[in-house]
Amino acid sequence: MSTIADLSKLESDLLGEVSAAGDLVALDGVRVSALGKKGRVSELMSKLGALPPEERKSFGQAVNTVKQKVTEALDARKGILEEAALQARLSTERADITLPVRLGPQGEGRIHPVSQVMDELIEIFADLGFKVAEGPDIETDENNFDKLNIPADHPARQDHDTFYFAPKEGGERMLLRTHTSPVQIRTMMREKPPIRIIAPGRVYRCDSDQTHTPMFHQIEALVIDETTHMGHLKWTLEEMIKAFFEVDEVKMRFRASHFPFTEPSMEIDIGAEAIGKPGKWLEIGGCGMVHPNVLKNCGLDPDKYQGFAFGMGIDRMAMLKYGIPDLRAFFSGDLRWLKHYGFSMLDVPTLGGGLSG
Ligand code: DAH
Repeated sequence: MSTIADLSKLESDLLGEVSAAGDLVALDGVRVSALGKKGRVSELMSKLGALPPEERKSFGQAVNTVKQKVTEALDARKGILEEAALQARLSTERADITLPVRLGPQGEGRIHPVSQVMDELIEIFADLGFKVAEGPDIETDENNFDKLNIPADHPARQDHDTFYFAPKEGGERMLLRTHTSPVQIRTMMREKPPIRIIAPGRVYRCDSDQTHTPMFHQIEALVIDETTHMGHLKWTLEEMIKAFFEVDEVKMRFRASHFPFTEPSMEIDIGAEAIGKPGKWLEIGGCGMVHPNVLKNCGLDPDKYQGFAFGMGIDRMAMLKYGIPDLRAFFSGDLRWLKHYGFSMLDVPTLGGGLSG
């Protein structure tokens, strides 16, 4: 094949094949058969050398023009086929983003009621301007007792059923904290008033029966400034209890009591209407005005500073709010229990969106 007429037939054949190619694979086949090393156009090019010099130039140009046209047609067709392939994929792989999320294995996980209640309480107190403070589970005798105005011979020490560690040589005798109150001490030693903190966490007592476990949880609150009085304490507790039990009204009763670290001291009862059991009182914790000795022990001037503190059992709050009967089941690691009483990890408690989902 070496005439211009043959060339134009080749051109129209190739352009026809290009536009007939139904997909990218077929199109590539056309490209190879035309422009590949042994393709029909390439072969013509390689034969140029055999032509007489006077024909070589014009024929070479003509072959080049065919090559160019075919290349352009291939590119254009490729664009069209790629677009068509994309559209076909999009229509089969369409994702309906209005469908609910499929959680997979994550959906099986549960938030433990204790964690849930801690998160709820943190949310409530954060809204009242409290920050979260922490202290270690392994405490010194001094922070757990002495600085809280419970000296070594104080009878209150007996109530605490303390787990002690073997004393280190010449060192302090460490213990597992028996309450969250040492976090009060740590906070006052570290920060200057005004102080407004809560401290949720684990506590330990050598005690075990249906309503007691050797490890349980408390939440402590401490407010110290120059003007805070018992009215603030009562208001704070009332707001917290209403928010926690998600009720508009709550009956509260304060019974005179005695804690070495507060004066006066009170036990807090709430009317059980809040959990749908009218006519009964439930004890939920202890509270009082921080004892001047405690302030002094932490380097604060009791003539200048005053404030309140309270402490409550978190596990008990969870039992009351969510109707969970047996405390020991909280810590037995039974997945069926957790599935029943646990919370979805997506139900993050917020005051705006609802505490308990
Ligand atoms: N620490 C006390 C306990 O474990 C509870 C408590 C009572 C904490 C009165 C306080 C408080 O902060 O003011 O029994």
